Amino acid sequence: MSQGKRVGIVGAGNVGATVAYSLAMLGSCHEIILRDNKIDVAKGKALDMSQAASAVRSHTVVKVAEEMSDLVDCDVVVVTAGSPRLPGMSRDDLLMINAKITKEVIQGIAKYSPNAIVIMVSNPLDAMTYVALKESGFDRSRVIGMAGILDSSRMAAFIQEKLGYGGGQIRASVMGGHGDDMVPLPRYSTVAGVPLSDVLTSEEIAEIVERTRHGGAEIVGYLKTGSAYYAPAKSTAIMVDAILKDTKQIHPCAVYLEGEYGYSDVVSGVPVMLGAKGAEKIIEVTLDEKEKSMFAQSCASVQKLIDTLKKNNFFEGK
Ligand code: LAC
Repeated sequence: MSQGKRVGIVGAGNVGATVAYSLAMLGSCHEIILRDNKIDVAKGKALDMSQAASAVRSHTVVKVAEEMSDLVDCDVVVVTAGSPRLPGMSRDDLLMINAKITKEVIQGIAKYSPNAIVIMVSNPLDAMTYVALKESGFDRSRVIGMAGILDSSRMAAFIQEKLGYGGGQIRASVMGGHGDDMVPLPRYSTVAGVPLSDVLTSEEIAEIVERTRHGGAEIVGYLKTGSAYYAPAKSTAIMVDAILKDTKQIHPCAVYLEGEYGYSDVVSGVPVMLGAKGAEKIIEVTLDEKEKSMFAQSCASVQKLIDTLKKNNFFEGK
């Protein structure tokens, strides 16, 4: 049990509030501090969640930061602040608006929780993780983006749907950026240890890969007014829990690359060992030529967004 740990969550909308609820139910930490401009909404949710925690005998208390200056000495801070996409929008369409919000939020975190590990959720995820890293000045191990666990869980759910069996025994693997050119890896995906290619045809696998790439948009299309939140929030809570428990387990996360996989000064989703210090180790898996080419395409898409921000002098002085 991670006694005494404090987790800040900036943005108490669907994703942020569901992260808080998931952590409170798990008893992952002692305190959760919600920060949202809609303070009364945050207060209502915090009260409600604290009462839910009592119901399950969890020691977690959910509080509200009236100002960013109240988000002090957090061990982990989750950033969900920003606009979600609407039907017909790509995550990239949120670049400028969410980069400005991320910059402001990160300035507050760097000032009031300077030792925190930051988990970015806001989209476009990889570019926002890059903004958070540059703005915070933190070591890259302490600025991590949530996407790979989400995308891998979507792929696993689609595999289970296609098979009709293997629920809970499916390990799917997705690398690359959190965009339409993300890199699902059937070669590294199994059902109870059985390679995917032994149980599905290449056409079925291709269909699952494509559906995984557009898994977020599929849900946005149904919800109409926003994007998914149960799976994104649970994926985020898994990362927070792994860090607070110092599990040293491997999860696909968005991190700043410094030569790994042959890329530098860009953020992308790769297997990472999570522990008390954040992204403690980047695991370099062997990619075949086709996988390398897809990963290159995905990194290029993220690089384009970063270059757009640079052309707008967004990182001046950083
Ligand atoms: C999605 C958001 C979290 O993929 O990008 O649903």
